[in-house]
Amino acid sequence: MSQPATPYQMIGGKDAVAAIVGRFYDLMDSEPGYADLRALHARDLSTVRHGLTLFLNAWLGGPKDWFERGSCVMSLHRRFPIPPSVADQWSDAMARAIAAQPGIDKELGLAMAERLGHMARAMVNRTEDDAAQAEAA
Ligand code: HEM
Repeated sequence: MSQPATPYQMIGGKDAVAAIVGRFYDLMDSEPGYADLRALHARDLSTVRHGLTLFLNAWLGGPKDWFERGSCVMSLHRRFPIPPSVADQWSDAMARAIAAQPGIDKELGLAMAERLGHMARAMVNRTEDDAAQAEAA
């Protein structure tokens, strides 16, 4: 019996994932609306581009290299101050990067964006007030 296609296969495999991640960080790097999110990242985005690509490959049912590292993506983000507005910037840029992928199944793209958005929201660890006070200090 043939296995059902994974989301990884359905969206076009590693080239599609790499294109989505590339577009996501290009948006984050260039649009003023994502400045707070950008500011949390290192100047050189090449490591995180690679890391998110490996993570999404695994998360979508493709090669499991990122999961084999044994890191928890939620724990990794605890050291960054993330108010709701920054989680929303992440989700917005990711939803746009996915929607712009040529030929992507619209429903699958929306489902991916929705679930990734839930993950981003679960990473919130500051109120907007905390974030403003930290900036003023
Ligand atoms: C909630 C908003 C988020 C913020 C502010 C954020 C921020 C960051 C930052 C600052 C880094 C380190 C990059 C660097 O040092 O330049 C990072 C790495 C990473 N983030 Fe996020 N992130 C968010 C959401 C997410 C979500 C929802 C996912 C997964 C779906 C994710 C997956 C990753 C991965 C896989 C890495 C690379 C880790 C590694 O391979 O070492 N992030 N993130």
